[in-house]
Amino acid sequence: MTTKAFVTGCTGQAGSYLIEQLLAKGYEVHGIIRPASTFTDTRLKNIYVDPHDKGANFFTYYGDLMVGGQLTDLLYSIKPDFVYNLGAQSHVMRSFEMPEYTCDVVGLGTLRLIEAIRKSGIKTRMYQSSSSEMFGNEPAPQSEATPFSPRSPYACAKVFAHNMCCNYREGYKLHISCGILFNMDSPRRLPTAVTKKITMAVANILNNKQDKLFLGNLDAKRDWGYAPEYTEAMQLILEHDAPDDFVIGTGENHTVKEFLDVAFGYVGIDWHEYVVIDKQYLRPTEVNNLLADARKAEQVLGWTPKVRFKELVEIMVESDIRGMKCK
Ligand code: NAP
Ligand code: GDD
Repeated sequence: MTTKAFVTGCTGQAGSYLIEQLLAKGYEVHGIIRPASTFTDTRLKNIYVDPHDKGANFFTYYGDLMVGGQLTDLLYSIKPDFVYNLGAQSHVMRSFEMPEYTCDVVGLGTLRLIEAIRKSGIKTRMYQSSSSEMFGNEPAPQSEATPFSPRSPYACAKVFAHNMCCNYREGYKLHISCGILFNMDSPRRLPTAVTKKITMAVANILNNKQDKLFLGNLDAKRDWGYAPEYTEAMQLILEHDAPDDFVIGTGENHTVKEFLDVAFGYVGIDWHEYVVIDKQYLRPTEVNNLLADARKAEQVLGWTPKVRFKELVEIMVESDIRGMKCK
């Protein structure tokens, strides 16, 4: 019997890596893609197969976490063994601009999905993408035992989603596990995340296509890790027999300034000549210091990150420089 997975957020950074890894393991993968006026599946270009092809094992459907009934129908007809909920409006600053929309997709969207699992009556395991943003300014390092103290509409919605998952796990005995992931990054990162914004600027500056980089708070600390390793962790979390929550991160954190040092330093230029602070990127409430205590994931799942901060930054800068050369 082929193992089947159903993925929301498959066009995103993590979704694209996860699906590549699942297909490599011989899974049949089904995913929903939001309808849009342009193609949004560029990150899936390596794995797209025409569903008419013999042996096709990757199927996409137009769908949205805002529409519960369709999720129930899809899950009932596909009957996946594993459901990965990666869909989200994942940009923290955008969530201050669009709080209602963010809470609808991130919070209620997750509720719609777990209700769809419950109502369809299928037997499946679900992975929920919880976030280190949920910890807010609780003292570092943060572990599974750290209380939630959300400081953005995005984080509030993630706490709601996380709590609903725990409630359905307990109340309805659904097999739902939550990965509380610290920042994951890669060349496929959302272009408006600070990391990708910086590495793209480095490539543009080298090619005389940009002469200023407008940023906000440079003092915030994040625990940045490599996304393909985090999607491996998601699979280990779901393969674990008892549903549970796991913090995933590197246990090493750095400021945005340190990210600038490594990214610009890699090509021998001084970021101070290019970076301009623009108040529009300062958040009404900021999360200052995120640092993962991921010992549980190491002890229970045997998961440890290999790519460290400097290597991650260099992978991202290299990729953007190569991308510019192709143009
Ligand atoms: P991402 O690149 O922003 O991808 C988000 C995905 O969600 C995209 O495929 C997007 O589709 C989809 N989506 C947005 N709204 C949707 C809706 N209404 N219905 C269905 N799908 C929708 O995010 P990521 O970095 O891959 O992160 C994956 C998940 O992990 C997210 O839930 C995020 O909140 C969470 N997370 C991320 C991090 C991190 O540092 N990256 C850390 C902790 C947790 P479009 O392509 O159409 O926009
Ligand atoms: N995006 C952005 N743009 N952030 C900036 C900028 C800028 O111009 N200038 C400074 N920053 C600072 C932010 O204020 C924040 O402290 C830090 O850079 C990181 O911002 P983001 O890259 O937007 O990521 P995030 O940490 O807020 O959220 C990401 O990680 C979460 C996990 O901790 C997102 O991927 C979330 O979806 C994820 O849950």
